[in-house]
Amino acid sequence: MIDFRTSRVAGEIAVLAYSGGLDTTVAINWIREKYGVQVATVIVDVGQEEDLEEAADRALVNGAVRSYIIDAKDEFASSFISEAIKANALYEGSYPLSTALARPLIAQKIAAIAKKLGAKYVAHGCTGKGNDQVRFEVTFRAVDPALSVIAPIREWNMNRDDEVAYASSHGLKLRKSQPSRFSTDENLWGRSIEGGELEDPWVEPPEEIYQWTSHSDMWPEEAEYVTLQFEQGIPVSVNGRKQKLSTLVTELNRLAGKHGVGRIDHVENRYVGIKSRENYECPAASVILQAHRALEGIVLSGDLLHFKVTVEGRFSELVYNGFWYSDTMKSLRAFISSTQEGVNGEVRVRLYRGSSTVCGIRSSNSGYSSSLSTYSRGDTFNQRASEGFIYIVGLPVAGTASGEAGISDVRERVVERKIQKAA
Ligand code: ARG
Repeated sequence: MIDFRTSRVAGEIAVLAYSGGLDTTVAINWIREKYGVQVATVIVDVGQEEDLEEAADRALVNGAVRSYIIDAKDEFASSFISEAIKANALYEGSYPLSTALARPLIAQKIAAIAKKLGAKYVAHGCTGKGNDQVRFEVTFRAVDPALSVIAPIREWNMNRDDEVAYASSHGLKLRKSQPSRFSTDENLWGRSIEGGELEDPWVEPPEEIYQWTSHSDMWPEEAEYVTLQFEQGIPVSVNGRKQKLSTLVTELNRLAGKHGVGRIDHVENRYVGIKSRENYECPAASVILQAHRALEGIVLSGDLLHFKVTVEGRFSELVYNGFWYSDTMKSLRAFISSTQEGVNGEVRVRLYRGSSTVCGIRSSNSGYSSSLSTYSRGDTFNQRASEGFIYIVGLPVAGTASGEAGISDVRERVVERKIQKAA
């Protein structure tokens, strides 16, 4: 929890979204030098697997006057991930939007601290080529248009080597581990990896980029079955054990990751117009979205399902582009939530050798009717009624292809037979 009782800081202050990594560590000092303002750092805990206490301490050592950690895991799960599940949100059909979903929440927390400290400036460590700068700044705008943004990485002309040199010449204390050649971001909903040799889409991702999903050598011999129970579109239990969403997602990341499920390799279109090659590990997201779609498949009408898909695409684009706070988004979310009232039931998923497969679905709201779909005894469907149905739906096309029915390459066999007419 944040303690808002701390006194206001003397002088101008910038509140920096801080990760503990090289960029934002250098940024603390750079902002002080360049702008002559104090820096407060904020780490928003959205489930990144890092030593946040160490990072927060190091921010103070490196010149910050205040350093905050905000545990936002539950809020991230219950207000953002849950919406993404209901929306089956996948950007360009592939990316569960893990990084994108957390940005508005992080930005909103930064703005809240700025307000408490009376700060005019907010700062982030995004480059000028990515989506994250847009997501942060559009959210700052939505929350408090009076805030001014400082974006050091976009403004300075340093590469990673320059940053390391700057850090050492200014006596900054960096993370113990060597800065990696990959740029990564993680939270409960997934892990993003980009850069290094991955920038060449022809290059197969090296095994070392993966941390949450195991290599095929490590996959368990046996399949593992997971039963997810959903209430109003949200998973509430795994194998009968009820848990809050943040814990459930964490558990599924581990379970599905162990079987190598959730690797995504995708060339995507950034909002700023660049195509970029992105890799993700999203074990829980992959399994949950797959199960949720399967459950909706038996609960929602075909018409609603088909229409919802168009809304889901727009929802995903808005999340990707940083418009979590927008009127369109608000209305789409209201629509999507209204579709989920009856999305209750259970889905059984098999995890086995790098893939997850839905192998059972049941719901008390199922629209699936065996007596209508069966080809066996007990069929209640009136097949004779199809005749009139087809006659009517086919009316508009009557004769439209009359010139097109030709024959060629026909092999014909002929037998002449006499027909005996019944007397
Ligand atoms: N391409 C993804 C997105 O725009 C992930 C970005 C991840 N950021 C990073 N620093 N690796 O949402």
